[in-house]
Amino acid sequence: MDEYRRCSEELLKFIEKCPTGFHAVAVLKEELEAEGFQELRETEQWKPECGKGYFVTRNDSSLIAFRIPSQEPKGFHIVASHCDSPAFKIKEEPEMTVENTYVKLNTERYGGMILYSWLDRALSVAGRVVVRDGDELETRLVNLEETLVIPSVAIHLNRDGNKGMEFNPQVDMLPLYGNRGMEDCCLTERVAEALGVMEEDILGHDLFLYVKEKGRFYGENDVFLFSPRLDDLQCVYASSKAFMNSVPEKYINVCGVFDNEEVGSGTKQGADSTFLEDVLWRVGEGLEWGREEYLRMIADSFLISADNAHGVHPNHPEKADPTNRPYLNNGIVIKFHGSQRYATDAVSAARMKMICEKAQVPWQTYANRSDIQGGSTLGNISTAHVSVSSVDIGMPQLAMHSAMETAGAKDTKYAEDAFAVFYKE
Ligand code: CO
Repeated sequence: MDEYRRCSEELLKFIEKCPTGFHAVAVLKEELEAEGFQELRETEQWKPECGKGYFVTRNDSSLIAFRIPSQEPKGFHIVASHCDSPAFKIKEEPEMTVENTYVKLNTERYGGMILYSWLDRALSVAGRVVVRDGDELETRLVNLEETLVIPSVAIHLNRDGNKGMEFNPQVDMLPLYGNRGMEDCCLTERVAEALGVMEEDILGHDLFLYVKEKGRFYGENDVFLFSPRLDDLQCVYASSKAFMNSVPEKYINVCGVFDNEEVGSGTKQGADSTFLEDVLWRVGEGLEWGREEYLRMIADSFLISADNAHGVHPNHPEKADPTNRPYLNNGIVIKFHGSQRYATDAVSAARMKMICEKAQVPWQTYANRSDIQGGSTLGNISTAHVSVSSVDIGMPQLAMHSAMETAGAKDTKYAEDAFAVFYKE
């Protein structure tokens, strides 16, 4: 393992620092700044220069970084991934008392999670709040120390509990937070305390329950990774590392990390927004390209949409396609879909295979069984806005959208190596 293990160890540390997409963007910002990348703001004029690196964020939850080669560029080399994960969003006025004794929090689903996997786990609350500072509003990140749990019903009280339970998110999935008899429980008060601000100055929040459990290795020789949020922080981590370590020669390297993929990408900062398009266009404007030159660059660009893929399940191998069967630790998965929910076509697949060969990284292929609908991702959504040749790939994993997911410990490095070749080409 060694090098492979080191890479996955770093990934687990990264995931621990990123309970929400807001935190992922903050961590990446800090790393990019340390690497000498300069922050650009959407509200200001941009003057990008050849040979330099920049980044821009939108809504504090999506980030696009780019690095321009020192010679005249030929187009863009883009890797796109997503930093959000299925979770429970905390509603406004969340405290609910039960029989004047317990306090639980009112939540709703964010994305398509496996509900039962969130029961009886150590959870906590993290996200962003907006705080009044005089006449200004300031955004602050928060990650509470407290543990919360959604307790399941004892088997003695629910004898059918092992026979395909249906879970009602408004009834079965609310986390236990406090005991009103012992102290006054108020989440906003606790958040204010954690941030050192007055409770009445907190005017808005995007707070989520997240799985507090730390990631770890498991299996013989520690071949597997067990962690929350592997979808899609594994791709965020691998692409951002490769991006920061690569100096481009002919193409402008772009690393895009988008929020809201788990809820359809249709927000101002999601992949179905103008964010990527706006950034690429403004880079061109800054480099004094005309419209014609910009379109020439776009025509010579390539996008890798990186989002984890389903590996063959050890207990349910029948769920996988009969002939496209990706396994954990066997390399990058190239995803295909007849109705083009994945952006891969013959040309982009061939190009991805060549990148993998150059990086000495194994590749595998994925397609849904023809009688299963499957999921979707960022690739075809992004290319509807910026129409470039694109391939959908990911690392193989199990239990996607469970509170704790499983991936291969070798695959993080495979992805990083392949992205590095792409960014150097
Ligand atoms: Co995903």
